[in-house]
Order: sequence, then C-alpha cells, then structure tokens
Amino acid sequence: MAGKRELFLKHVAQTSNLSMMLEVSHAEGMYITDVRGKKYLDFNSGISVSSLGHRNPDVVTAIKKQTDLYMHTMVYGEHIQAPQVYYAQLLTSVIDSSLNSIYFLNSGSEAVELAIKLGRKYTGRHEVMACRNAYHGSTLGAESLRSDLDFTSALAPTIPGIRHIDFNDFGQIEKINEHIAALIIEPVQAESGVNPPAPGYLDALRAKCDETGTLLIFDEIQTGFSRTGSLFAYQKYGVLPDVLLIAKSMGGGMPIGAVVTGRQIMQSIANKPSLAHITTFGGHPVCVAASLAALQYHLNHDIAYGVDKKAEILKKKLKHPIIKEIRNSGLMMAVELTKKKYLKHVVSRAIENGVLVDYFLFNDRSFRLAPPLILEEKHIDEGTTKLIEAMNFALQVYS
Ligand SMILES: Cc1ncc(COP(=O)(O)O)c(C=O)c1O
Repeated sequence: MAGKRELFLKHVAQTSNLSMMLEVSHAEGMYITDVRGKKYLDFNSGISVSSLGHRNPDVVTAIKKQTDLYMHTMVYGEHIQAPQVYYAQLLTSVIDSSLNSIYFLNSGSEAVELAIKLGRKYTGRHEVMACRNAYHGSTLGAESLRSDLDFTSALAPTIPGIRHIDFNDFGQIEKINEHIAALIIEPVQAESGVNPPAPGYLDALRAKCDETGTLLIFDEIQTGFSRTGSLFAYQKYGVLPDVLLIAKSMGGGMPIGAVVTGRQIMQSIANKPSLAHITTFGGHPVCVAASLAALQYHLNHDIAYGVDKKAEILKKKLKHPIIKEIRNSGLMMAVELTKKKYLKHVVSRAIENGVLVDYFLFNDRSFRLAPPLILEEKHIDEGTTKLIEAMNFALQVYS
C-alpha cells in the first residue's frame, strides 16, 4: 500500500518542487512534532500565523464551544451571529474610532480583493497603487499588484490601472495623484526581506493621500496582532490608514481575514449595486470564535509588550561572520547573509537541526524569522544555537 508521502506527492497539489515534506503528527506551543517523533522549534509560525503558538488553549476551547452551538447557518450578513458581533465590538474598541466597521472574509487575499473594490467604488477612480516587491496575495486582483513582470506576464492580462512606487522612496510619493483610487501598502514590507518604514515615510504617504483623495490602505496581514510590538503596526508608527487589512494570525490558527474601515467607506459595497461583495464562508462562526479568543489573549496577556525585548535578545544571541545584517520590526525579522550562496544551506541545515525558518519571496540573501510571540529565553537559546550551527555548516561547505 502506498505510504502517506507517496500519496501526498501523487494526489496533493504542490506549487513548487521544494516541498519541505515534514509529516506532521501534532503541534503544541512553540513546537511541531513529526510522525517520527522529531520535534521542530517553530521560528516561522507558518508565515506569521501561529503568533500565539500552536493550539493555544483558549482558542481550542472557544472552537469546541462554538461547534457545540452552531457552525455555518447562512451566508455573510444575513444572520446575527454572536462571535462576529462580539469580535467587531472588541476589535473596534482597541483601534482608532474611525475604523469602526469590519467585513469578515476567509483569507488575506480576499481582504485585498475587497480593498481594491472599495477603493474603486468609494472614489469612483480605477487606478490602484502598490509598492514594488510587495506580496498581497494569490487571487488575480491581488497578484495584479505585484511588480514582478516575469511572474505576472504568465497571468496576463492582469487587472488594468496598477501603478507602482518603491517602498521608502520619498521622491516617488509625487506619483500619487488624483487618478489613484487607493494606495495598498504594508507598513513594514515583508517579502522584500523585512523593510521597516523610514522615519516620516508613512506620514508623508498619509499627507499625500489626504491631498489627492486617495484611500490609504494598510495591509497588516503579516504585521497585525502584536507581531511588530504593537497590536497593529499603524499604532507603532503612528499613522492612521483609511482601511486596515487583517488575516493570518487573526484566527489563532483558523482561516479568516477581514477588512476594517469607516462605516461610510464600507457602505459603498452595500449600494449601487447592493451585494457588491459577498462570501459564503467569510466570518465562519467557528473561525470568528477562535479569532475572538485569540484577540482576548493578545489583550489580556499583553502579548505585544514583550515583543521588542525578545527581538533584541534574539538579535544579540544570533551573531555569526556570515550575517551581514538583521532587519526587524518586533519579531518580524530578516537575517541577511554576506553571500546568497549560503542561504539554501543555512535554511535546510536549520530545518535538519530542528528549527523551522523560511525564505522570502523577493530576497535571495535573507532568511525569515517570525517565531510565535510567546517564545521564552530558553527557546531563543535553542533556536540561535541551532541556527549558528547551520551557519557554521554553510560556511564549511564553501571552505
Ligand atoms: C502581506 C500579505 N498580504 C496578503 C497575503 C495573502 O494572504 P492569504 O495567503 O491569507 O490569502 C499575504 C500572505 O502571505 C501577505 O503576507
């Protein structure tokens, strides 16, 4: 009989030839254990999802309680479901009062799709601006925001009217004009290898968007929920967007995404035509119950508070001659190596050593560290020891 690995390769779609092939048995807290009993310290959080670690007990309890009451009852917006109401109430109470309306979806990409539609419908314009080397999702609208033509040309025609600027380039802010419906931007650019905003950059974007009537949309799908040391990065950098996009760690391990904005902007999907954005499963009560428990956990345990300190300790302990620099915003971190040839050896050896790290989409010299935010000093010691051994190994390969 075919084994699980064989069946996986035969019947479960892969999107590259680089599958890690880690056969998961169970996951708890900071660790994922494979079917052979090998424990992996998770320094990746499934790309910034498991920020509260795996199987956070409050999240698991909330899921169980909700499944005992009801699961799907009706598509979004038709029934009043307690988890959605309480989530919306809690979230809007801890963010700026102008962000007072939430639309629940299934994923980050869908939140980006709705953001593009809101930008167009609210302003009556069709051009949308994004930054080069940003990733906003895999649906066609979200992919259209990519600057990388080698990639998007295979999908052509993508949606028209997309303009690009370089992140942190003050000179290009002038390109935002009265034709641009929305600027969709991450406050910390993730996939280019963690680039925090230069001082004053987000303020300058805010000012220009105010001047041109362009919606400023922050994609906080990676930066949200304490990752950068504040509940949201917009709070850390002190610049308020018109629209906030959230997903990934929002669900505490369950699939969900959302768009948060002011009631007036959100209303544009309810009129002319109505039902301008609908979803069958978006805001599924079990996922929202999990999200509510996760948000309560962030707030009750002040998860954001310890993030910067842990990041500093991690950076201090991760010293090696092949590290060129470490860029970070809280525990969203990129370790840039002196030569790109080291990268694949470091990443694969680290995984062999039992610490999960990952690549970036648009940076071939850096690896990603995005551990669960609950990590303790003993995990930092374990992870950095294993990473340093992996870097010794990479150096030795070329000696
Ligand atoms: C910044 C950012 N935006 C959007 C997305 C798309 O989210 P999802 O994969 O949930 O569709 C991602 C996913 O990696 C992301 O990192």
